[in-house]
Amino acid sequence: MTFEISRTVAQVDEALDRLLPPEDTFPAEIHGAMRYSVFAGGKRLRPLLTLSAAEIFGVPQLHAMPAACSLEMVHTYSLIHDDLPALDNDNYRRGRFSNHKVYGEAIAILAGDALLTMAFETLAGEASAYFPAATVVRLMEELSKAAGVGGMIGGQVVDILSEGKQVSAERLDYIHRHKTGALFSCAIRSGAVMGGASLAELRILTSFADKMGLAFQIVDDMLDITGEQALLGKKTGADAERQKATYPALFGLDAAQKKAVDLLFDAEQELEPFGEAAASLYYLAQKLVHRQS
Ligand code: IPE
Ligand code: IPE
Ligand code: MG
Ligand code: MG
Ligand code: MG
Repeated sequence: MTFEISRTVAQVDEALDRLLPPEDTFPAEIHGAMRYSVFAGGKRLRPLLTLSAAEIFGVPQLHAMPAACSLEMVHTYSLIHDDLPALDNDNYRRGRFSNHKVYGEAIAILAGDALLTMAFETLAGEASAYFPAATVVRLMEELSKAAGVGGMIGGQVVDILSEGKQVSAERLDYIHRHKTGALFSCAIRSGAVMGGASLAELRILTSFADKMGLAFQIVDDMLDITGEQALLGKKTGADAERQKATYPALFGLDAAQKKAVDLLFDAEQELEPFGEAAASLYYLAQKLVHRQS
């Protein structure tokens, strides 16, 4: 049965609200800053991916929720840091001022650090209520690799170092697969790990995730050119301003669009062996590529 996105997003929000310390917990500045960005209206795609991958294997949503939330914590941290003046220097995020514009750079950096750390605390503390220690260690390994220098951080580094430069297709591929793809893949693989997926099943879902992560970042690059700021909740035209290495910059908008749709098509084929059980994941894949925000 396909879950209903808006209801599941509300459940993710409820879980995050329970996991994050209340706003007035001392020192209130940091808890306010963490909550400011977490509850600014993100699409919650990574938690949705975790929950829908877990659904394939019949993992109860309650059990998969801590891992789903850990992905959103890492993702939100990455956005707070991505917007900092030293990185993309963006003033808007999720329809409001970026974290550092409200709380200052020091608190924004620390709020990011706190969310990153809390993700692992959540796995160790909450996920271990439902899964054996070996599974929790696997989840931690997946997340630390995806968020770390072999994953998202590596991608962010090459993204920043490539500003203003003509990059090769291989380098662009590295950037996208690491800065965005790694966390996408982790979201899906985490659901499969909790479901006790076989190696073959994990391989199929990883291949699906790799294609979707790349397609997702290509669409993000396209929306920076063609999207509506009010819908996106972040400034458009920012990539051109900073001369970022993007798909449309390197190949043009039409080729970028074609690449995203081709990747979606290939990704969907991967899900066939799972049949109806993968209906939520299939539906999400469509949504990710054909989106306006
Ligand atoms: C934005 O991610 C950053 C990228 C990796 C492209 P999302 O588009 O998922 O952002 P939110 O979570 O909905 O704000
Ligand atoms: C963001 O890529 C990737 C991470 C945050 C890790 P972008 O810099 O393109 O994301 P937006 O467009 O600012 O959301
Ligand atoms: Mg960036
Ligand atoms: Mg950015
Ligand atoms: Mg972008």
